[in-house]
Amino acid sequence: MIIAPSLLAADYGNFAKDTLRAGRSGAEWLHLDIMDGHFVPNISFGPHVVKTIRPLTKMFFDVHLMCSKPEILLEPFAKAGADQIIVHVELTDRVTPLLWKIRSLGIKVGLCLNPPTSISHVQPYLDKIDHLLVMTVNPGFGGQEFIYETLPKIQQAAEWRLENKLSFTIGVDGGVNFKTVGDCARAGANAFVSGTALFGQRNMKAAVKKLRLLAEDNDPGLADLKM
Ligand code: DX5
Ligand code: ZN
Repeated sequence: MIIAPSLLAADYGNFAKDTLRAGRSGAEWLHLDIMDGHFVPNISFGPHVVKTIRPLTKMFFDVHLMCSKPEILLEPFAKAGADQIIVHVELTDRVTPLLWKIRSLGIKVGLCLNPPTSISHVQPYLDKIDHLLVMTVNPGFGGQEFIYETLPKIQQAAEWRLENKLSFTIGVDGGVNFKTVGDCARAGANAFVSGTALFGQRNMKAAVKKLRLLAEDNDPGLADLKM
């Protein structure tokens, strides 16, 4: 199980402090929500912030590009220290070249889909990616309510992963907290992006541990072992 605090929910006045806090929390990934004010109605931060925090932690940098023209951002974020770059399947016929370009940069390849987008849209790419990110809120802002109607999409992706003997991780992003993480894990997710529920806690280490335990307690794979 992978826990990925989202820097979007961090203290914008002190990214360094909150990056160190996340690094000490036991979380494996740091989720970096990049917003361009066009693909989503919000603007967050760019490659320079990633470059600045890179030396502060060994965490895996999981860069989520909610951007209409990710082509011009792939190299800057790879150079800044991204370990994985996620692009949106809503970019339609540009997706295949984007995935190839990310792969060519020597980093992990991620694909994301928004709540209204059918899971069938990602099926053609599942053998080309390392990570599938299922949005469980409409992208653009942290602190939103979890959209339960997205759960069947996670289940379908997990079934296709099993049927085709693929090994991509399945992430969830948005409204993932102590109340919703169990449903996500039961559906087949194994990477949990969480902003408000983690950065909002005084003891982030305890919050990461609790989120991880709740996910593991609901992992269908582990459930068989407990029989
Ligand atoms: C939406 C963002 C959020 C963020 C996590 O575009 O991607 O999902 O990462 O938000 P919360 O605060 O809901 O965990
Ligand atoms: Zn995200």
